[in-house]
Amino acid sequence: MGKDKLRRFEAIKSFDNVFEPVREQDFEHSGKWNENIFKNQNPIVLELGCGKGEYSVGLGALFSDKNYIGVEIKGNRIYIGAREAIDKNLNNVAFLRTRIDYIDSYFKENEVDEIWLTFSDPQPNKPRKRLTSTLFINRYRKFLKPGGLIHLKTDSSVLFDSTMEQIKLNEYELVDLRPDLYATLKEGEEEQKIFSIKTHYETLFTKRGHVIKYCCFKIN
Ligand SMILES: C[S@@+](CC[C@H](N)C(=O)[O-])C[C@H]1O[C@@H](n2cnc3c(N)ncnc32)[C@H](O)[C@@H]1O
Repeated sequence: MGKDKLRRFEAIKSFDNVFEPVREQDFEHSGKWNENIFKNQNPIVLELGCGKGEYSVGLGALFSDKNYIGVEIKGNRIYIGAREAIDKNLNNVAFLRTRIDYIDSYFKENEVDEIWLTFSDPQPNKPRKRLTSTLFINRYRKFLKPGGLIHLKTDSSVLFDSTMEQIKLNEYELVDLRPDLYATLKEGEEEQKIFSIKTHYETLFTKRGHVIKYCCFKIN
């Protein structure tokens, strides 16, 4: 491992806004994120596979009345977002270092209001590992409030199309659909602020000419 990576791994251990549970079963803040960490009763929003946490930090800065938690396995990526949140005094932004596969151990029933999936790995050969597969949706179901929103922003047709199939098959409620997000975004639209946040992977894929897609749905 490179020196810089090691330094970042060490650094996040001392950050108050990063949680690195050793065993998911014993996580003390499960069901108590607002009570113990954010000290308010604001809605909780997760960004799963957050990488450097651009959405967690960007949305946290835009909406101080919501609490954001970026979830990611790579500590050196979390470091970037967590450092930025500290530098910007964003007390409504935190990070959880874990595998998303265990996400339902970290939150209790009805604890979460929204989920963002930002440029998730499309897993072309492993559909069950996609973050919008039935397997993962059933994990989210355990802690997402009724009517809670799932946002997907991606360049991947594989992930986007399979998500649309899941929505149809399971009769999830489609709230917003933008197969070419930036072509349909209107000047002055409220959502412009939200979509102007660009993640690391979005920037890479946009440079390659990929079309960015977005959908939002409920899994009631
Ligand atoms: C393609 S990157 C996107 C990162 C970021 N959202 C962005 O748009 O720049 C996917 C991220 O998800 C993380 N990831 C993938 N599967 C994961 C899992 N099962 N648990 C935790 N993190 C995962 C990877 O480490 C990686 O940082």
